[in-house]
Order: sequence, then C-alpha cells, then structure tokens
Amino acid sequence: MEKKIRILTGDRPTGKLHIGHYFGSLQKRIEMQNSGLYDPYILIADVQALTDNFKKKKKVRKNVREVAMDYLAAGIDTKKTTIYIQSMISEVAELTVFYSNLVTIARLQRNPTVKTEIAQKRDVFGESVTYGFLGYPVSQAADITCFDGELVPVGEDQLPLIEQCREIVRKFNSIYGEVLIEPKAVLSSGKRIKGLDGNEKMGKSLGNAIYLSDSEEEISKKVMSAVTDPARIKKDDKGNPDICMVYYYHQLFSKDEEVKNVCEECKAGARGCVACKRQLAKNINNAIEPMRVKRAYYEEHPEIVDEVLKEGTKKAQRVAKQTMEKVKQAMRLDYFRK
Ligand code: TRP
Ligand code: SF4
Repeated sequence: MEKKIRILTGDRPTGKLHIGHYFGSLQKRIEMQNSGLYDPYILIADVQALTDNFKKKKKVRKNVREVAMDYLAAGIDTKKTTIYIQSMISEVAELTVFYSNLVTIARLQRNPTVKTEIAQKRDVFGESVTYGFLGYPVSQAADITCFDGELVPVGEDQLPLIEQCREIVRKFNSIYGEVLIEPKAVLSSGKRIKGLDGNEKMGKSLGNAIYLSDSEEEISKKVMSAVTDPARIKKDDKGNPDICMVYYYHQLFSKDEEVKNVCEECKAGARGCVACKRQLAKNINNAIEPMRVKRAYYEEHPEIVDEVLKEGTKKAQRVAKQTMEKVKQAMRLDYFRK
C-alpha cells in the first residue's frame, strides 16, 4: 500500500462551530478524509487558545469537547482521521523551545497574521503583547512538524503562519540535518460565508452566526432577522436579490430550480420576503438537521467523545515521541543515548 500523505490541521477551541466553519474548512477536510489519499490529523489547539484568552481557562476546557462534538457531527470519522488535544503532547512544547532559537523577534512582528491580530487585540494586550502570543507561530510550526505534516489545509489568514513554519524547517534542516518535513499549505477555504446581517464574515462575536447545533426555532429566528433589499416594502415592490442576504443564503442551501424562482419572483415583485425567508429557514434546517441529531447523540454520550479524544491523543503521542527522538539526536540533545 502506498504511503498516505499526512495532513495536519486544527482549530482553537473558542466555541461551537458555525456554518462559516463548515463551508470554510470542515467540508474540505471531510472530502480529503474520505478520498482515502491522506492520513489526516486534527488538533484541538487549547494551548494556542490560551495565548489570547489566558484567563478563560474554563471556557477553553469546555470548548475542547464542543469542537470535538462538532467534528464528529459534521462527518469527521475517527477511523480515518486522528483528533487529538494539543496540550497533551508535551513534545510540541519542547519543540517550540528549540525552534525559538531559529526565529527573530523582528520576523515575528512582521508576520502579517500576527500583526493584524495584535492590532485587533489591544483590549487584551494593551501596549505590549505577550511573549506567548507573539511566538504562537513558532508553536504552530511545532504543531505541524512534530507530526511530519506534509499538507496543511488552512484559511487564507493562516498562510503567513505556514510560510513562517517553512522558514523554520529550512533553517533547522540547514543547521542540524535534513530531519524535518517542509509542509505545504492548501487553501481549505471553500467559501467565505457572509453573516445574515450582510457582514463579510460570520462570527460569534459578530452575533450573526448559524451554528451546526442550532435548533429549528433558532435557525428560523435568525433567518427572519436577515437583511433583505431595503427598498422592498410592499409585496409587489420589485426587488433586487443581489443585495439581499436571504437570496445569498438561498444560493448556498436551496436547489438550483428554487434559487432561479426566488430570483425571478423577487425581481418581478411576485414574492413576499416573509415567505421567502420561511422557505430558506426550512432548507437550512434540512441541511443541518442530520448534524444536529448526531451532535445531540454525542451530547448525551460525552464518554464516547472523551474516548475518541483519548484514543486520538494516545496515537498522536506515539508519533510525537518518534519525531522528538530524531530531533534530539540531530541536535545532539541525546546525551545518554547509547
Ligand atoms: N491557528 C489555527 C486557528 O486559529 C489553529 C491551529 C493551531 C492550526 N495549530 C495549527 C492550524 C496547526 C493548522 C496547523 O484556526
Ligand atoms: Fe430577498 Fe426574497 Fe425578499 Fe427578494 S423576496 S428581497 S430575495 S427575501
């Protein structure tokens, strides 16, 4: 059997996953998982989540299971994909320390992702950012290389982090020998989903997200509050679907035939917005329902979720240990080795 390509990716456990995550990354991960060509590892990055949420320890801890349940509900299959918890792999922390000699502070400060995030997080960091946050690209490089990750499916915002990881690998290999694999980023972003309010991004903090775990009523309520063509007041006003979030979502969740009808009827003033929204809510609900049902099962059986995490983490620990041996040998940090 040919060796499968190792995929390494993950998420910070900052909350339940929404349909932005689904279309943005989960869908692609599931597709890659099911292709049979890859050996995917997904980490729940709890240590990284603490880099800007260092006081929110209970929340991060709780969200580890929330994210795991979302993965399982969406179709991550642990027969094919290994899910593990970052903090349980002490080798990653050790590697981070080794790599920290290979990166300058100026280079980290220039990393576009880090730069943007620091600017956004003034409320957390004030005038001076922590060493841990500034250095999280280094620990992310450890996340990837500790597992010989070859492909890293990420969103566009993460590309500078993968680039920095590649630099660290090249530097390491040039000093200590060809030990590490230089990973490649693959854009996992299928689509970037706008919020129901028309915001370019869907997010918890923006209050415009539909979660994989939302109930039928919650979905319906959210859809009813979506932004439509503001010029339409009466039902027979002619509308412009292109500026309506309901139409935008119809294109994601409704059949082609339906989408066409929505468009034509809206333009002709032959469709009421309330009915249009009801129809959309129904379609979104139909798409999410199987995930919600699966998720509810895992919510009732937390022991199954914990078992999945335990098994995945154990497997990951074995892989990390092997990498660490190679690394320490290369760095001559293997004093007692015979
Ligand atoms: N930084 C990623 C995020 O915020 C999470 C992450 C941590 C990650 N380690 C990783 C992603 C390694 C890919 C590979 O979503
Ligand atoms: Fe939007 Fe539908 Fe109303 Fe047209 S009819 S503005 S597509 S909600």
